[in-house]
Amino acid sequence: MPETLVNLLYIISAMLFVFGLKRLGRADTARKGNMISAIGMLLAIVTALASDNLIHWPWIVVGLVSGSVIGALAARLVAMTSMPEMVALFNGFGGIASLLVGWVEFQRLYSAGLLASAPWNELIIIGITVLIGGVTFTGSVIAWGKLSEKLSSKPVLYGGQQIVNGLVVILILASILLVSLGRPLLGPDALLPFLTPYTVLIVLGGLSLILGVMVVIPIGGGDMPVVISLLNSYSGMAACAAGFVIKNNVLIVSGALVGSSGIILTNIMCKAMNRSLSNVLFSGFGAGGGSVKAGAGFTGEAKPVSVEDAYPILEAAQNVLIVPGYGMAVAQAQHAVQELASLMEENGTEVNFGIHPVAGRMPGHMNVLLAEANVPYDQLKEMDDVNPTIEMVDVALVIGANDVVNPAARSDEGSPLFGMPVINVDKARTVIVFKRSLNPGFAGVDNPLFFGDNTRMLFGDAKASIQGLVAEFKN
Ligand code: TAP
Repeated sequence: MPETLVNLLYIISAMLFVFGLKRLGRADTARKGNMISAIGMLLAIVTALASDNLIHWPWIVVGLVSGSVIGALAARLVAMTSMPEMVALFNGFGGIASLLVGWVEFQRLYSAGLLASAPWNELIIIGITVLIGGVTFTGSVIAWGKLSEKLSSKPVLYGGQQIVNGLVVILILASILLVSLGRPLLGPDALLPFLTPYTVLIVLGGLSLILGVMVVIPIGGGDMPVVISLLNSYSGMAACAAGFVIKNNVLIVSGALVGSSGIILTNIMCKAMNRSLSNVLFSGFGAGGGSVKAGAGFTGEAKPVSVEDAYPILEAAQNVLIVPGYGMAVAQAQHAVQELASLMEENGTEVNFGIHPVAGRMPGHMNVLLAEANVPYDQLKEMDDVNPTIEMVDVALVIGANDVVNPAARSDEGSPLFGMPVINVDKARTVIVFKRSLNPGFAGVDNPLFFGDNTRMLFGDAKASIQGLVAEFKN
């Protein structure tokens, strides 16, 4: 295929990626966005296959078929709650694929005797590809282990950790420089007779894999979604670097898109948690394990309510705001919540859902669960849209949410949550909180909402309580 046509098709693929990404920004257009991006990817793959001198067709077919089967099965079989782990593994595969691309290109130059004459900048790119690919692979595997609780989710911290990590980084940089600019120093008759470019590449690959482990172990399991988003960005950068190595324009563009969107998402999550990226990466958040008290000095008693007593409150409400959180995912209560919402609507109540950007444990966690339960997209309102009119809400139903509705984030300067934007359910006329106890949520801080005059606590598993309310409405 002529090169101009190849590049034209690559540009069309890149445009499809951009249009697809744009549509992924809204729940109601996300499916279409995914489809458009997938078509872009198909076009890119077909163009790449038709353009290059492919010598190993059978291997490519084996890779395509086995990859497609594993991908389709994984996507169909994975439970919605395990989605973050699956994304972590996929990032890891992207990383190792880029590492192998860099490695194979180095191998090709080495075995063809072209290494000595290869331009230094090409070798630097190969080194960077191996570095980012290796870090992404092992970092993602550790993130997967922490999220799936195959590994302890506690941060692993030890004295001198930053110094050890710093030394590994210095050795990695030295290896990249040696393999690209310092080649005359390597070899039997040179200054470093015990090192060949190939052994340096092996050291670089090994150290990159070690660095991936080292940078993720100090981070607590709760922060893994942010780490996964960051690793997603790394996998994009690794792919982009691999694109430079094999001089493939569409790989450069798609890698850059993944790299930049991953970093934007990481930034959004950090902002929504009111934490900096360095705080997420280096603070060992959650290392203490115990509960951190807010110290707000709030007083009062939590007022329990039963399903039977909660029903008339909902039955009489003109409008209800449902604010879901991580507990709804744990209880798998989304279908029951959807049923309750429909019954309340049939009863003439206006029902909306207030979605906090970091409710749950992964970006879009609540949107995904509620979409699975067929809650109409137009009922899902963002935090910034519900807060200005929250005083007009008759009843706010807080379902397994805790940190994202904690009013101490507004008022208690001593709280770890201070400054984090929250959904101000405490300003609604009545609040009903569905959870099993007064225990704190992810951040480990107490929540004065539970003691508010207008708050009622419906203790128990969220799904069982909601099903109880559904039964009351049906009766
Ligand atoms: P959390 O503050 O973690 O609170 C969840 C609550 O759910 C818990 O207090 C728990 O109380 C309750 N719960 C658990 N199982 C339940 C069940 N079966 N039935 C009823 N309730 C149940 O959740 P949130 O409000 O969604 O806040 C999310 C937190 O995660 C924030 O601190 C956020 O910064 C953090 N985070 C989020 C993300 C993303 S991207 N979403 C990423 C990293 C960190 P009981 O034990 O008393 O039932």
